[in-house]
Amino acid sequence: MKKILNNTVLVFALSFALSSCGGNSEKESTAAQSAAATVKAEPVKPVEPEMSNVLALEGNDQMQYNQTEFKIAAGRSVTLTLKHTGTLEKNAMGHNFVLLKQGTDMNAFAKKAMEAKDNDYIPKSESASVIAHTKLLGGGESDTITFTVTEKGTYDFICSFPGHISMMKGKLIVE
Ligand code: CO
Repeated sequence: MKKILNNTVLVFALSFALSSCGGNSEKESTAAQSAAATVKAEPVKPVEPEMSNVLALEGNDQMQYNQTEFKIAAGRSVTLTLKHTGTLEKNAMGHNFVLLKQGTDMNAFAKKAMEAKDNDYIPKSESASVIAHTKLLGGGESDTITFTVTEKGTYDFICSFPGHISMMKGKLIVE
């Protein structure tokens, strides 16, 4: 999103700079337009997550994570901080980060999680499916965890608060 905005700003700045320098002959104005068009036509590269061992994730009052994909290195210790940037209490808009083992049915997990309010929606019966998880957070709170994933592959992460999996889920790519 940021990249798209930057490109848009660039297009405006460029066309302004080109059209404002020198005289206003038709030729120059046409050149400015085509220059702007060239910049506009450039495809916006998809934003690929960079590999990192320090991950920052946010959850908000609109039931959204701000990131849906992370890339980490296999066998390397990773620190993840989840921050709830909203103001709602955790009973109403609780957020966590639950990293699931490959092969876990995340919807079945989330269903079990709904019954685990007493354990912050981490179902004890499914603990074998959990690689790592944060605390359940309310607005303004944050939690930092450290974990290591040894096997390469793509892993699901979810917020296990009831109903949140529909909006709050993402992929952790281990390379
Ligand atoms: Co949530």
